[in-house]
Amino acid sequence: MARFTLPRDLYHGKGSLEVLKTFKGKKAIVCVGGGSMKKFGFLDRAVSYLKEAGMEVKLFEGIESDPSVETVMKGAQAMLDFGPDWIIAIGGGSPIDAAKAMWIKYEYPDITFEEMCKVFGIPELRHKAKFCAISSTSGTATEVTAFSIITDYQKGIKYPIADFEITPDVAIVDPELAETMPKKLVAHTGMDAITHAIEAYVSTAHCDYTDPLALHAIEMIKADLVGSYNGDMEKRDSMHNAQCLAGMAFSNALLGIVHSMAHKTGAAFADYGAHIIHGAANAMYLPKVIKFNAKDPTAKKRYGQIADFIHLGGKDDDEKVELLIAMLRKMNDDLNIPHCIKNYGADSYPTEQGFVPEKVFLERVHDIAVNAIGDACTGSNPRQPSVEEMEKLLKCCYYDTEVDF
Ligand SMILES: NC(=O)c1ccc[n+]([C@@H]2O[C@H](COP(=O)([O-])OP(=O)(O)OC[C@H]3O[C@@H](n4cnc5c(N)ncnc54)[C@H](O)[C@@H]3O)[C@@H](O)[C@H]2O)c1
Ligand SMILES: [Zn+2]
Repeated sequence: MARFTLPRDLYHGKGSLEVLKTFKGKKAIVCVGGGSMKKFGFLDRAVSYLKEAGMEVKLFEGIESDPSVETVMKGAQAMLDFGPDWIIAIGGGSPIDAAKAMWIKYEYPDITFEEMCKVFGIPELRHKAKFCAISSTSGTATEVTAFSIITDYQKGIKYPIADFEITPDVAIVDPELAETMPKKLVAHTGMDAITHAIEAYVSTAHCDYTDPLALHAIEMIKADLVGSYNGDMEKRDSMHNAQCLAGMAFSNALLGIVHSMAHKTGAAFADYGAHIIHGAANAMYLPKVIKFNAKDPTAKKRYGQIADFIHLGGKDDDEKVELLIAMLRKMNDDLNIPHCIKNYGADSYPTEQGFVPEKVFLERVHDIAVNAIGDACTGSNPRQPSVEEMEKLLKCCYYDTEVDF
């Protein structure tokens, strides 16, 4: 038996934010990030719609990018003090993910962070509140997924919390919110989305219900991401739907080791002054992982099906895999994303010597490989790497060298 779960309701299209006016409840806490939603007026609009619906509204503001365990605990306390029956998270993946984790702690105040991280081990929610997610970036699709990514900064590791319990009750996919994204955010979140779709399509947990969502998302992202990056607002709007479709696919088909590696490298060099941003990490690692996974015959065939679906050509599956890799590398070039960690600058742009020194990378690569193998996303990857292979793969991602093992 397999399960396929999505939010009960999804409102999409311009102006769908207004549906908040129709929500039924007494108290809503609105969880939000550092200021973009306030600056562009979306926060005020959301709050006034909720008040129009007759609710008392409290804000939990200032959720940082790549939210920490500490922020989750603080937010849960704010919820316990206020007692909301609606949790409304608005913004990028960070505030929405943080709010999902706060929700668990709000419903079960004694639960520890370690207990939350047990894959598909969250107790039943919705005894105190329902959850609505309103996404303002076009990548994580956390508005429809069963995941939340929280960073333990003491360990420098991102932990995925995974359970259909945290799939939101309502998702609002209003493209107006995504129109204010700066270019760099469009690039990173868009490559995150195509990684979700490709990993979901080749995942060992894929099924007839997830495949069409993944393929359609890949086709749309190929058609629209670079244009959206270059300021075409129709393509920007379309990307908001495409990333959501990719999310519906991967929430149910799971992901693979591109994400395992991104989770475990993201904050691993934070002491050198920067993060490897989630979407950029995926964009750099995806071509390498495709080459690695393509040694598995089933995965190779499925990459070939993706290439066929988006009309890349190629006479056999080997050629199709190469054409898919070439397309993704070209997208990275068009989006000003480097091909490897060595060339990843502290500002995320390509540079001769990036912020992660070679010596430091080599000192840490073994531990990162061990952590990546243990990541929740590794289990559904089509080819299971050994620690040694994972180390080699990470080195290819550092130096941009060919994967031939
Ligand atoms: N839950 C999931 O299924 C899932 C999937 C992939 C990634 N993630 C996680 O999500 C996080 C990344 O989320 P993200 O990429 O959406 O970025 P983010 O939420 O971290 O936001 C990045 C920055 O963009 C700003 N911003 C957001 N929307 C904006 C807009 N419309 N206009 C202008 N500025 C805007 C924010 O204020 C912030 O400064 C990471 O922690 C990642 O690990 C979660
Ligand atoms: Zn992702």
